[in-house]
This record gives sequence, C-alpha cells and structure tokens, in this order.
Amino acid sequence: MSLASQTPPAPAPARGGFLKGFALSMGVVALILAAAMGGALDDIAGAAAQARPHAPDLARLTQLPPVIQVHLYTALAALALGGVLMAVRKGRAFHRVAGWVWVALVSVTAGSTLFITSLNHGSWSFIHLFTGWTLIILPLAVLWARRREVARHRRAMMGLFYGGFAINLIIAFIPGRTMWSLFFG
Ligand code: HEM
Repeated sequence: MSLASQTPPAPAPARGGFLKGFALSMGVVALILAAAMGGALDDIAGAAAQARPHAPDLARLTQLPPVIQVHLYTALAALALGGVLMAVRKGRAFHRVAGWVWVALVSVTAGSTLFITSLNHGSWSFIHLFTGWTLIILPLAVLWARRREVARHRRAMMGLFYGGFAINLIIAFIPGRTMWSLFFG
C-alpha cells in the first residue's frame, strides 16, 4: 500500500463560519440600531407611512452638501468595484491594482463621514462606529496583504465589504434619510 493511500484526508474546511459571523453581526447591529434610535422610531414610522415610490430624483443629488455627494459617489463606486473584486481571481495584477483603487475609495468614503453629522444634529451618530472600525481595519487589511497573511487579509476585506458596505447600504434607506427621499420621499 502506498504512503499516500495511508494518509488520512485533510479535514474539510469549516463551512458557514463566515455566514454565521455575518448573521451574528447583523443581529448586533439591529440591536444597536433599535437601542440608539429610541424616539426616532416614531419619525421613521411616520416617514414610512408617507412613502411614495418614484424614479430616483437625480436633481436632488446635486443639491446635497458636497461632502455627502463625495461620500455617496465613492461609496457606490466602492460597492460596485468591491463586488467585482469579490468575484475575480485573487492575487493577479488586476486584483492588486483594483484593490488599491478600492482602498482609496473606501478611505474617502469613511474619511468623509467625519464631516457629516446630519443625523445627530451636529454630532457624530451611532453609524460613525462603522467609520472608526473601517479606518482601523482597512490599513491592517493592506498590511496583512503585504505580509502575505492571506487568510487574515481575506477575512478583513470580506468583513469590510459585507459587514460595512452591505449594512450601510441597507440602513442608508431608513425612512427619512437621503437615499429614502431620493426614491420614496
Ligand atoms: C453604498 C453604501 C452607502 C450609501 C448608499 C451611503 C449613503 C449615505 C448618505 C446618503 C449619507 C448622508 C446622511 C443621510 O442619509 O441623510 C450617509 C452618511 C453617513 N454614512 Fe454612508 N453610505 C454608504 C456607505 C457607508 C459606509 C461604508 C460607511 C462607514 C464606513 C458609512 C458611514 C456613514 C456615516 C458615519 C454617515 C454620517 C451619518 C450622520 O449624519 O451621523 N456609509 N451615507
């Protein structure tokens, strides 16, 4: 019998770990949202009750404060490019070049929010927790890539993309917020 046939098969990689983590973090975010919004829930319910779905009112985009426009356009670009990066084969020239572009877009998306305080009347709001998290994890994810710590790099970037962008895209449509009014206000 050959040595290869005696070697026990490697254990199958744990499946669903990422999804479980994602579901857990979504739950935590939902709890934070519910706790942080308190009285605002009535306003949200009021805005939702008056929803009038319509084609996006692009004229309103140009009337937004410049810093919100910068945030919104870089966020949407990072969302699209991030989707491509998640799908393509990793480690090739495209991944490296587009990866740097993505890092630049995310830096501006997160950095611009330090100057947006519309939800909490002039102060940072609970959503700024995402900003702090992004500004810490993003440079670490780059560092891990440069050190060839692939698993850590992958986890961090997936966390930023799914945990940061997917959640922010959803909560950007909370009734009363800008995205909501573009489509439903
Ligand atoms: C495609 C994804 C995203 C969209 C469509 C989006 C959209 C917006 C818009 C329109 C605003 C202006 C405030 C308002 O809603 O009236 C805003 C504010 C903000 N966004 Fe995003 N955003 C996205 C991604 C992100 C990400 C990834 C982060 C975190 C790194 C983030 C953090 C924030 C913060 C902290 C504010 C300021 C909220 C406040 O006024 O207190 N957003 N976003």
